[in-house]
Amino acid sequence: MNEKSPMGQPAAELPRAGFSSGFGVLAATLGSAVGLGNIWKFPYLTGANGGAGFLLVYLLATLVIGLPVMMAEILLGREAKANPISTLQALAPKRQPWWLIGVAGMLGAFLILSFYSEVVAWVFAYVFKALRGSILSSDPRVTEAAFNALISDPLQSLLWQWGVLVFIGGILVLGVTKGIEALTKKLMPILFLLLLLLCAFSLSLDKAAEGLAFLFKPDFSKISASVALTAMGLAFFKLSIGMGTMMTYGSYFRDDQNIPVTAFRVMCADLCVSMLAGIAIFPAVFTFGFAPAAGPALVFITIPAVFSQIPMGQGLMVVFFVLTAVAATGAMLSLMEVPVVILHERLGLPRTRATLLTILLLVFLGAGCALSNSALADFKVLGMTLFDLSDFVSSNIILPAGGIFLAVFVGWVWGMDKFRLALSNHGQLHNEKLARAVFFVLRYVSPVLILVVMLKGLNLI
Ligand code: PHE
Repeated sequence: MNEKSPMGQPAAELPRAGFSSGFGVLAATLGSAVGLGNIWKFPYLTGANGGAGFLLVYLLATLVIGLPVMMAEILLGREAKANPISTLQALAPKRQPWWLIGVAGMLGAFLILSFYSEVVAWVFAYVFKALRGSILSSDPRVTEAAFNALISDPLQSLLWQWGVLVFIGGILVLGVTKGIEALTKKLMPILFLLLLLLCAFSLSLDKAAEGLAFLFKPDFSKISASVALTAMGLAFFKLSIGMGTMMTYGSYFRDDQNIPVTAFRVMCADLCVSMLAGIAIFPAVFTFGFAPAAGPALVFITIPAVFSQIPMGQGLMVVFFVLTAVAATGAMLSLMEVPVVILHERLGLPRTRATLLTILLLVFLGAGCALSNSALADFKVLGMTLFDLSDFVSSNIILPAGGIFLAVFVGWVWGMDKFRLALSNHGQLHNEKLARAVFFVLRYVSPVLILVVMLKGLNLI
């Protein structure tokens, strides 16, 4: 992405490179949004929180809160063309500490990466398990045992995670991000097709109707304040907003890019992938007798069951986990970009060194999450393992809080005039009405709504 940035130069001399084409922008932004959030987190949270009611709140949160915040974040980044901390410093009045949003975002990135890298580790391990064929079974006991054997082994958990970190670090240090993005662009349609195929098979299973009812027929009694907070947190996580990733990507956007249209397309495509994952998984959950509330294990135990029903299922399952790993790599690269670009531009560290430092920190931080199902299973903070805690704090506190501050910043500090001008590409686009509507939401609706859902969900009011 940053192909022109020569490694090792001080930030001041850096010619800031950007995405080269409109399609490239869309693909890279989508590459950040689509990841384990769709394939792993969305199904497991939907299962654990009662199904359709959760989905409904998630959809509402994505539309009403996520989309406007996403536009705002990309816009701010493009206006200032800098890392999140410098962006907020440049756009805020002097001596107002809005740049702290950037600092919180960087901490959020580390927190997310420490558990995300472990889930990617499971995906990598599953590529190899799928190759050996041992996990291909529709018997819940077999697939559950295989997953438990992996996560309860401290050495395997750690080694796979280190493998993932070295892999991602290698991509960044070698400067082949661009190549990876080009590859992702080509491979994502295949993942999409494979998910469609999985859905078709899943829908032909005995209890498909039950699975679909669970996913689409809301039971409003299941929507509690904490369910709403989890759904909202997922909306933030899914769109990669509230912690600076979209701001950083926005800083690479071209000046003639139509931001509202891009954000809308990314949101739609992202929702599509999540829905396909849900439709692929829930019919199998009910047909083979898995527990919908199985938690983070859900995808890893049900997907092999679906593939066991498909001709050439083993080969296709290998492809599925490889493509999931590719999707997750795109998301991880965008997460890493936040601390790397901050260390690079703010502290003047060469990109390579910034990357290595980030990876090194993650080896330590991530170990807590990697060992959460084995050596550290009994080590709990607020009743959660380090894995669950990192997930909870990032999605349900840091990202929504980031969203509140960003909305307040745009709505009350930056102001309507600058917002409108920026959203219309300085008068090139005629989207005055849309700008007014989005601004209104950012000023009055998003901050209040996010705050209420957060405080209620955390049981503080
Ligand atoms: N949106 C990514 C996913 O769904 C995760 C992510 C969160 C990426 C925050 C960047 C920032 O997998």
